Amino acid sequence: MKYAIKDVKLAEHGRKKIIWADKEMPVLRQVRERFAKQKPLKGIKIAACLHVTTETANLAITLKAGGADIYLCASNPLSTQDDTAAALVKYYDIPTFAIKGEDNKTYYKHLNETLTIKPNITIDDGCDLVTNIVSKNRVLLKDIIGGAEETTTGVIRLKAMERDGALEYPVIAVNDAMTKHFFDNRYGTGQSTIDGIVRATNILLAGKVVVVAGYGWCGRGFAMRVKGLGAHTIVTEVDHLKAIEAAMDGFEVMPMKEAAKKGDIFVTLTGDLNVVDKAHFVLMKDGAIVCNSGHFNDEINIMALKEMSKSSKNVRDFVEEYTLKSGKKICILADGRLINLSAAEGHPASVMDMSFANHALSAEYLVNNYKNLEKKVYVVPENIDREIARLKLNAMGIKIDVLTPEQKKYLNSWQSGT
Ligand code: ADE
Repeated sequence: MKYAIKDVKLAEHGRKKIIWADKEMPVLRQVRERFAKQKPLKGIKIAACLHVTTETANLAITLKAGGADIYLCASNPLSTQDDTAAALVKYYDIPTFAIKGEDNKTYYKHLNETLTIKPNITIDDGCDLVTNIVSKNRVLLKDIIGGAEETTTGVIRLKAMERDGALEYPVIAVNDAMTKHFFDNRYGTGQSTIDGIVRATNILLAGKVVVVAGYGWCGRGFAMRVKGLGAHTIVTEVDHLKAIEAAMDGFEVMPMKEAAKKGDIFVTLTGDLNVVDKAHFVLMKDGAIVCNSGHFNDEINIMALKEMSKSSKNVRDFVEEYTLKSGKKICILADGRLINLSAAEGHPASVMDMSFANHALSAEYLVNNYKNLEKKVYVVPENIDREIARLKLNAMGIKIDVLTPEQKKYLNSWQSGT
């Protein structure tokens, strides 16, 4: 079996953690049990480019239980859990190509290794497989029936590809499922971003001024949680609606140039470029901490900071302290890579349960429906999304009311009024 991992001796530790995560993934587990009996993915080859975590491991195991062959690589050079990767290879026979801290060249080498499976389905977190296939590996297109995408940034790219006529096969935007972004993006990012900042810095958040750039689902979740820990929270936005929402949720809203002077900690969750830039670094307080929880590492202009600095040094794992020519110090966490997966373990299993159940069921949906799909971005069918919600609520032991026939009739009528 082909693979590239840090050290196979880490496998036992990784296996324990995969089993631990599985306890919090009851929906995916039910899908796995059915897949093991029915084998809906028999003969299907899958290339997956995802953060190699214990939760992803449980997805890969589920796809394999459904009869698929799967090759897995990382969707970020810093997010791999080396023990998980080792366990996937040693105990689950899943070829995995991922080493935490790999350089960019190795990252793409590993991505290309997953494509040697000649996939029928691609599963992406950030669209790297799709862009690689349509731009450099078009020969693979003939075997591909479809793909799935995990994250907001990836979906934005896929929609741009569709607009440009560059999308060559149907892709399901798992991110846009209700059971994905309502929970993973909001509560997952909310908790895991705090986890990453705290593990990297061990800093007290109560009483700090925290600047949250971006009030999408991820920004909302983080702002809500960090406020709950006692941080004075400022939101920056470019969208009028989201800015109103942030203001009405009780946050101070202002442009980054004003927030730059006030913040102790800055967190970007925008999906855009150079959101924290040279013009902001010059205004920041001595000792400001800056990190990113968006998909790519270009939300913070670290090149500009390097040019403005006379030196930099590593002062703690994941903390690089830059000394500006003025003598002021600014700390960047995890090189601007997503802090929640670099310094911590990403979102907890309980939210990834729903996200990854969407992926498993989307793969099955592609197998059954690809002949009717076009080269477009699709939402997860609503019946799948709602079934995942039903299973999750059930697993949480929560019961809800059921519409009476009278109420159903009322909701479908228009005649009765005051
Ligand atoms: N994205 C965010 N958190 C994650 C996790 N725990 N596993 C895989 N992908 C993630």
